[in-house]
Amino acid sequence: MSAQLIDGKAAAKASNASVAAAVAGLKAKHGLVPGLTVVLVGDDPASKVYVGSKERETKAAGMNSTAHRLPATASQAEVLALVEKLNRDPDVHGILVQLPLPRQINPDAIIAAMNPAKDVDGFHAVNTGLLWGQGGGLVPCTPQGSMLLLRQAMPKPAGAHAVVVGRSMIVGKPVAALLLGQDCTVTVAHSKSRDLPAICRGADILVAAVGRPEMVRGDWVKPGAVVIDVGINRLPDGRLVGDVAFEEARAVAGAITPVPGGVGPMTIACLLRNTLVAACRQRGVPVPSL
Ligand code: GUN
Repeated sequence: MSAQLIDGKAAAKASNASVAAAVAGLKAKHGLVPGLTVVLVGDDPASKVYVGSKERETKAAGMNSTAHRLPATASQAEVLALVEKLNRDPDVHGILVQLPLPRQINPDAIIAAMNPAKDVDGFHAVNTGLLWGQGGGLVPCTPQGSMLLLRQAMPKPAGAHAVVVGRSMIVGKPVAALLLGQDCTVTVAHSKSRDLPAICRGADILVAAVGRPEMVRGDWVKPGAVVIDVGINRLPDGRLVGDVAFEEARAVAGAITPVPGGVGPMTIACLLRNTLVAACRQRGVPVPSL
């Protein structure tokens, strides 16, 4: 038997349509147009593509989108000054500084300088604290998107054993917090974990976020498990693959996200959701349910 495919492209499209409808309502009722500003420093080719997509999709949802493109030689002081200016701008509800940053700039200092209410990446320590604590902050986009896809395959994950492979600030740690928030039993494994295949085989929910092409093999997957593959890796032959050996895992899992077309499209969809939420909170209007 072959696993159910979890269609991230369709889920992102549906989410974007809900956000666009909510934005239209905010404009009509409150004269509020949510605004996202993206900051790109340098000319990393992948980052350029991501920033272009973010601008395009933000506009398509009816929101304001601006981008600041700084040269690779920009100093930390320049980026900090820009962030502080955007913090003060009432028309900017969301700020996203694209990572990675050039070496002379400390990303932690940039994230710390951001107004947490505008931190649509959910990376600021205030948002991290809220994520692990009482909730109510802005939730990192890729983990948020992963959870929306998980809920399609497993509407009630409470009590399930979730194994997260990877412990990054962008995915592994926040997705672990979200799974714990859904009453899962959570194991966070990583490159130094002993007997990773055995740990993964215990997972009802397996989230792969290590950035190693096809590392998770089919025999690491418990029969019937839900597999969420967050990896996007380009192979030397040009193929795009996840962190999971898709065909092997598909034969064993109950449900699985493909790469491409799984978690990837959900990241920008959740960025739009966060921008909407941030704008409503800053204006003091109710957040529309999506
Ligand atoms: N670079 C890769 N992923 C991300 C992300 O989620 N946010 C930002 N700001 N940069 C990234």
